[in-house]
Amino acid sequence: MKSIIILGSTGSIGTNTLDIVRRFPEEFRVVGLTAGSNIDKLEAQIRQFKPEAVAVSTESSAASLRNRCVDLPVEIMAGEEGITHVASSLDAELVISAIVGAAGLVPTLSAIRSRKHIALANKEPMVMAGKLMQDEARKHGVRIFPVDSEHSAIFQSLEGHRIEDVRRLILTASGGALWTLTQEQLLNVTPERALQHPNWKMGSKITIDSATLMNKGLEVVEARWLFDISESNIDVLIHRESIIHSLVEYKDRSMIAQLGLPDMRTPISYAMRHPARMALDLPSLNLAEIGQLTFCKPDHDRFPCLNLGYESLRIGGTMPAAMNAANEIAVEAFLNHGLRFCEIPQVIRSTMEAHAYQEITCLDDALEADRWAREKADSLVHALPR
Ligand SMILES: NC(=O)c1ccc[n+]([C@@H]2O[C@H](COP(=O)([O-])OP(=O)(O)OC[C@H]3O[C@@H](n4cnc5c(N)ncnc54)[C@H](OP(=O)(O)O)[C@@H]3O)[C@@H](O)[C@H]2O)c1
Repeated sequence: MKSIIILGSTGSIGTNTLDIVRRFPEEFRVVGLTAGSNIDKLEAQIRQFKPEAVAVSTESSAASLRNRCVDLPVEIMAGEEGITHVASSLDAELVISAIVGAAGLVPTLSAIRSRKHIALANKEPMVMAGKLMQDEARKHGVRIFPVDSEHSAIFQSLEGHRIEDVRRLILTASGGALWTLTQEQLLNVTPERALQHPNWKMGSKITIDSATLMNKGLEVVEARWLFDISESNIDVLIHRESIIHSLVEYKDRSMIAQLGLPDMRTPISYAMRHPARMALDLPSLNLAEIGQLTFCKPDHDRFPCLNLGYESLRIGGTMPAAMNAANEIAVEAFLNHGLRFCEIPQVIRSTMEAHAYQEITCLDDALEADRWAREKADSLVHALPR
C-alpha cells in the first residue's frame, strides 16, 4: 500500500485523485491533505479518508476546521508553514502536487527535499524554478511524474526510447473556450464565457489560461525542464478534440503519441502507480465513432500568450517566474471583472519588459522575482484606463 499526501485536495485534480483512491482503497493510504479555504469539502475528505494531518491557508480556516473535527484524531495546521509541514514531515512515498499557482512552490520543493516522489500537476513551480526543482530532485533521488495530460503523454511516448533520438516534442492544445472567436469578438469576452472549456472541467485559473493559450506557454516551460530539452525542440499543435494528448517525433521521423478520452484520472493514476496501469472503469475511446481528428497551427496574433512562454525561456533566469506571477495577477483581475480579456497579455508583456532578470541560484531568487512581478503587474492593472 502506497502512502500519499495530496496538496490541493479540494481542487479539480485533488478531487480526481481522491476518486482514484476511493476506487482502489487497497492500493493507497492518504496520510496528509491540504487546501486553501474550502473547509466544507476538506472536512468531508477528512471524515472519509482519515489523514493524520491536514493544513489550510489561514489560521481562521484552521480554527473553524478544528472545531468541526474535534471527534477526529487529525492534526490541523495553518498557513504556508503548515502546508509545507504536511508536504514534508509526514511519512509518505508520494506527494500529489495539485495546488494552483505559485503557492505550490515552497511545499512541493520541501516535499522533494524530504525525499518524497512527486506526481506533479501544479505546473507553476516548474515554470518558476524548473532547474532548481530538477537539481533538487536529482540530489535527493526523487522522481517527478507528470500529471498534466500533455506531459504524461510525452512521458509515456518516451518510455523505452533514448532522449538523444528525440527530434521534437509536440504539445497538443485544445485552443480553449475562445478559439473560434475573431480578434474583435475577443475584445469584450466575459469571464463566464472564457470559463466554458469545450473538453476539460478544471479549476478557473487553468481554464482562463487555456483560453488565452498561456496554459500552453506555461506547459512549454514545464516540458523544457521535465524532459531536459531546448524550447527550440518543442512545438505546439492545435487539436480541438483533446484526444491525442501529445506526441514525440524521433530522428527517423517516426512519431509516437498517447491517445485517450479527456479524463484526468488516466494521467493521475499513471503518475500514482507508475509503471503499473490501473484498471479504471472509464468509457473507452472509440475512434470509429469519433470519425475524424483535426489539427492546425496556433494563432499567435489572437493568442499572444503562447509566445510569451517561449520568450521567457529564451531570456531565462527569473523571467519565467516573473511571467508566471504577472499572469496570475492578470487572470485574477480578469476573473474579478477588473481587466479585459485582451489586456491579459499586455499586462504580462509589460511586466516582462520591466523585469531585470537574473540567474536563479536559490529558491529566494524565484520567490523575489515572483514578489516583484506581482507588485508590478498589479500596478499595471490599476493604471489601465477604465
Ligand atoms: N484541473 C485539471 O484538469 C488540470 C490539468 C492539468 C494541470 N493542472 C494543474 O494542476 C493545478 C491545480 O489545478 P486545479 O484545476 O485542480 O485547480 P483548482 O480546482 O482551482 O484547485 C486548486 C487547489 O489548490 C488550493 N489552493 C488554492 N490557493 C491556495 C493557496 N494559496 N494555498 C494553498 N492551497 C491553495 C485550493 O483550495 P480551495 O479549494 O480551498 O480553494 C484547491 O485545493 C494547477 O497548477 C493546474 O495548472 C490542472
